[in-house]
Amino acid sequence: MQTPILLRLPRYDDVAAYTGFLANPLVTTWLEDRCQRPVLFHQAQAFVLGEAWCRLAIEFEGRFVGMTGLEDYDPVNSVARFFIVVGDQSVWGKGVGTAAAIRILDHGFRALGLRRIVSNYLLPNEASRVVHQRAGFQIEGQQRQVAWRNGAWVDQTLLAVLRDEWIKRNSA
Ligand SMILES: CC(C)(COP(=O)(O)OP(=O)(O)OC[C@H]1O[C@@H](n2cnc3c(N)ncnc32)[C@H](O)[C@@H]1OP(=O)(O)O)[C@@H](O)C(=O)NCCC(=O)NCCS
Repeated sequence: MQTPILLRLPRYDDVAAYTGFLANPLVTTWLEDRCQRPVLFHQAQAFVLGEAWCRLAIEFEGRFVGMTGLEDYDPVNSVARFFIVVGDQSVWGKGVGTAAAIRILDHGFRALGLRRIVSNYLLPNEASRVVHQRAGFQIEGQQRQVAWRNGAWVDQTLLAVLRDEWIKRNSA
Protein backbone atom coordinates (compact mmCIF):
# COMPACT_ATOMS: atom_id res chain seq x y z
CA MET A 1 0.00 0.00 0.00
CA GLN A 2 1.21 3.49 -0.86
CA THR A 3 2.16 5.79 2.04
CA PRO A 4 -0.72 8.28 2.59
CA ILE A 5 0.44 11.78 1.73
CA LEU A 6 -1.28 15.02 0.75
CA LEU A 7 -0.04 17.23 -2.09
CA ARG A 8 -1.35 20.79 -1.74
CA LEU A 9 -0.51 24.34 -2.76
CA PRO A 10 2.40 25.81 -0.77
CA ARG A 11 1.64 28.38 1.97
CA TYR A 12 3.55 31.20 3.64
CA ASP A 13 3.98 29.17 6.85
CA ASP A 14 5.82 26.47 4.86
CA VAL A 15 8.68 28.88 4.14
CA ALA A 16 10.24 28.87 7.62
CA ALA A 17 10.07 25.07 7.75
CA TYR A 18 11.62 24.81 4.29
CA THR A 19 14.42 27.21 5.30
CA GLY A 20 15.08 24.88 8.23
CA PHE A 21 15.11 21.79 5.99
CA LEU A 22 17.74 23.41 3.76
CA ALA A 23 19.96 24.13 6.76
CA ASN A 24 20.52 20.36 7.09
CA PRO A 25 23.54 19.22 5.01
CA LEU A 26 22.06 15.71 4.83
CA VAL A 27 19.16 17.25 2.89
CA THR A 28 21.19 19.58 0.67
CA THR A 29 24.30 17.53 -0.22
CA TRP A 30 22.75 15.94 -3.31
CA LEU A 31 20.71 18.99 -4.35
CA GLU A 32 21.84 21.67 -6.82
CA ASP A 33 25.01 23.72 -6.34
CA ARG A 34 22.98 26.76 -5.24
CA CYS A 35 21.83 24.76 -2.20
CA GLN A 36 25.43 24.11 -1.12
CA ARG A 37 25.61 27.66 0.31
CA PRO A 38 23.34 28.78 3.17
CA VAL A 39 19.81 29.27 1.83
CA LEU A 40 18.21 32.35 3.43
CA PHE A 41 14.53 32.81 4.26
CA HIS A 42 13.85 35.07 1.27
CA GLN A 43 15.53 32.59 -1.09
CA ALA A 44 13.43 29.75 0.33
CA GLN A 45 10.37 31.97 0.00
CA ALA A 46 11.14 32.61 -3.67
CA PHE A 47 11.26 28.87 -4.23
CA VAL A 48 8.28 27.80 -2.12
CA LEU A 49 5.90 30.62 -3.10
CA GLY A 50 7.41 31.90 -6.34
CA GLU A 51 5.88 31.55 -9.76
CA ALA A 52 6.03 27.92 -10.85
CA TRP A 53 4.37 25.70 -13.40
CA CYS A 54 3.62 22.92 -10.94
CA ARG A 55 5.13 23.14 -7.46
CA LEU A 56 3.36 21.49 -4.54
CA ALA A 57 3.87 21.02 -0.82
CA ILE A 58 4.02 17.49 0.59
CA GLU A 59 2.16 16.81 3.83
CA PHE A 60 2.60 13.63 5.83
CA GLU A 61 0.77 12.89 9.09
CA GLY A 62 -0.69 16.40 9.05
CA ARG A 63 2.51 18.38 8.66
CA PHE A 64 4.58 19.92 5.89
CA VAL A 65 7.58 17.70 5.09
CA GLY A 66 8.81 18.83 1.67
CA MET A 67 8.18 19.96 -1.88
CA THR A 68 7.72 18.24 -5.21
CA GLY A 69 6.71 19.32 -8.68
CA LEU A 70 7.29 19.59 -12.38
CA GLU A 71 9.48 22.38 -13.74
CA ASP A 72 11.01 23.59 -17.00
CA TYR A 73 7.79 22.91 -18.90
CA ASP A 74 8.46 22.58 -22.63
CA PRO A 75 5.06 23.03 -24.33
CA VAL A 76 6.42 22.23 -27.81
CA ASN A 77 7.43 18.73 -26.80
CA SER A 78 5.13 18.25 -23.76
CA VAL A 79 8.06 17.64 -21.46
CA ALA A 80 8.74 18.75 -17.89
CA ARG A 81 11.30 17.94 -15.21
CA PHE A 82 10.43 16.22 -11.94
CA PHE A 83 11.95 17.34 -8.63
CA ILE A 84 11.51 16.23 -5.05
CA VAL A 85 12.79 17.32 -1.65
CA VAL A 86 11.58 15.48 1.44
CA GLY A 87 13.27 17.90 3.80
CA ASP A 88 12.05 16.49 7.12
CA GLN A 89 14.70 13.88 7.78
CA SER A 90 12.58 12.24 10.50
CA VAL A 91 10.21 10.85 7.85
CA TRP A 92 12.81 9.38 5.48
CA GLY A 93 12.43 5.73 4.65
CA LYS A 94 8.66 5.69 5.22
CA GLY A 95 7.66 5.79 1.56
CA VAL A 96 6.86 9.52 1.43
CA GLY A 97 9.28 10.22 -1.44
CA THR A 98 8.01 7.30 -3.51
CA ALA A 99 4.35 8.17 -2.91
CA ALA A 100 4.93 11.83 -3.82
CA ALA A 101 6.82 10.88 -6.98
CA ILE A 102 4.05 8.55 -8.13
CA ARG A 103 1.36 11.15 -7.40
CA ILE A 104 3.11 13.96 -9.24
CA LEU A 105 3.94 11.78 -12.26
CA ASP A 106 0.34 10.66 -12.48
CA HIS A 107 -0.79 14.30 -12.28
CA GLY A 108 1.72 15.27 -14.97
CA PHE A 109 0.62 12.60 -17.41
CA ARG A 110 -3.13 12.42 -16.77
CA ALA A 111 -4.05 16.00 -15.77
CA LEU A 112 -1.33 18.17 -17.33
CA GLY A 113 -1.01 16.23 -20.58
CA LEU A 114 2.73 15.62 -20.48
CA ARG A 115 4.26 13.10 -22.86
CA ARG A 116 7.66 12.75 -21.19
CA ILE A 117 8.89 13.59 -17.69
CA VAL A 118 12.63 13.82 -17.17
CA SER A 119 14.71 13.81 -14.02
CA ASN A 120 18.24 13.44 -12.72
CA TYR A 121 20.10 12.62 -9.52
CA LEU A 122 23.71 12.65 -8.44
CA LEU A 123 24.96 9.09 -8.50
CA PRO A 124 25.74 8.62 -4.77
CA ASN A 125 22.17 9.65 -3.87
CA GLU A 126 20.98 6.12 -3.21
CA ALA A 127 17.61 7.15 -1.72
CA SER A 128 16.84 9.14 -4.85
CA ARG A 129 17.84 6.21 -7.05
CA VAL A 130 15.39 3.98 -5.16
CA VAL A 131 12.56 6.54 -5.42
CA HIS A 132 13.07 7.03 -9.18
CA GLN A 133 13.24 3.30 -9.79
CA ARG A 134 10.09 2.59 -7.74
CA ALA A 135 8.22 5.38 -9.49
CA GLY A 136 9.00 3.84 -12.88
CA PHE A 137 11.74 6.07 -14.29
CA GLN A 138 14.08 4.50 -16.86
CA ILE A 139 17.76 5.42 -16.84
CA GLU A 140 18.76 7.10 -20.11
CA GLY A 141 22.37 7.92 -19.44
CA GLN A 142 25.06 9.15 -17.14
CA GLN A 143 26.98 12.41 -17.19
CA ARG A 144 30.48 12.26 -15.75
CA GLN A 145 31.92 14.51 -13.04
CA VAL A 146 29.01 16.93 -12.96
CA ALA A 147 29.32 18.25 -9.41
CA TRP A 148 31.83 18.50 -6.54
CA ARG A 149 30.51 16.85 -3.39
CA ASN A 150 32.23 15.53 -0.26
CA GLY A 151 35.70 16.09 -1.74
CA ALA A 152 35.17 14.39 -5.10
CA TRP A 153 33.60 14.91 -8.52
CA VAL A 154 30.40 12.90 -8.82
CA ASP A 155 28.46 11.69 -11.84
CA GLN A 156 24.81 12.40 -12.59
CA THR A 157 22.22 9.90 -13.79
CA LEU A 158 19.64 11.07 -16.35
CA LEU A 159 16.17 9.48 -16.41
CA ALA A 160 12.75 9.77 -17.98
CA VAL A 161 9.28 8.24 -17.96
CA LEU A 162 7.07 8.28 -21.03
CA ARG A 163 3.31 8.77 -20.89
CA ASP A 164 2.60 5.54 -22.81
CA GLU A 165 4.63 3.37 -20.45
CA TRP A 166 3.13 5.17 -17.43
CA ILE A 167 -0.45 4.56 -18.52
CA LYS A 168 0.34 0.92 -19.36
CA ARG A 169 2.04 0.36 -16.02
CA ASN A 170 -0.60 2.14 -13.94
CA SER A 171 -3.83 0.99 -15.55
CA ALA A 172 -5.86 -1.13 -13.17
C1 LIG B 1 15.56 11.20 -1.85
C2 LIG B 1 14.33 11.40 -0.97
C3 LIG B 1 13.27 12.15 -1.75
C4 LIG B 1 13.78 10.04 -0.54
O1 LIG B 1 12.63 10.27 0.26
P1 LIG B 1 12.04 9.13 1.23
O2 LIG B 1 10.75 9.63 1.74
O3 LIG B 1 13.06 8.73 2.21
O4 LIG B 1 11.83 7.98 0.16
P2 LIG B 1 11.17 6.52 0.36
O5 LIG B 1 10.97 6.24 1.81
O6 LIG B 1 9.99 6.44 -0.54
O7 LIG B 1 12.27 5.55 -0.28
C5 LIG B 1 13.62 5.68 0.02
C6 LIG B 1 14.24 4.30 -0.03
O8 LIG B 1 15.64 4.47 -0.18
C7 LIG B 1 16.28 3.72 0.84
N1 LIG B 1 17.55 4.36 1.15
C8 LIG B 1 17.75 5.57 1.66
N2 LIG B 1 19.07 5.80 1.79
C9 LIG B 1 19.69 4.70 1.35
C10 LIG B 1 21.04 4.33 1.22
N3 LIG B 1 22.03 5.15 1.56
N4 LIG B 1 21.30 3.10 0.72
C11 LIG B 1 20.33 2.26 0.37
N5 LIG B 1 19.00 2.58 0.44
C12 LIG B 1 18.71 3.78 0.93
C13 LIG B 1 15.31 3.74 1.99
O9 LIG B 1 15.60 2.78 2.94
C14 LIG B 1 14.02 3.51 1.25
O10 LIG B 1 13.88 2.15 0.88
P3 LIG B 1 13.02 1.10 1.76
O11 LIG B 1 11.60 1.53 1.63
O12 LIG B 1 13.30 -0.22 1.11
O13 LIG B 1 13.53 1.19 3.17
C15 LIG B 1 14.70 12.17 0.34
O14 LIG B 1 15.69 11.44 1.01
C16 LIG B 1 15.20 13.58 0.08
O15 LIG B 1 14.43 14.45 -0.28
N6 LIG B 1 16.50 13.79 0.30
C17 LIG B 1 17.09 15.12 0.21
C18 LIG B 1 16.90 15.83 -1.12
C19 LIG B 1 17.15 14.94 -2.31
O16 LIG B 1 18.13 14.20 -2.35
N7 LIG B 1 16.24 15.04 -3.28
C20 LIG B 1 16.36 14.31 -4.53
C21 LIG B 1 17.27 15.04 -5.44
S1 LIG B 1 17.43 14.16 -6.98
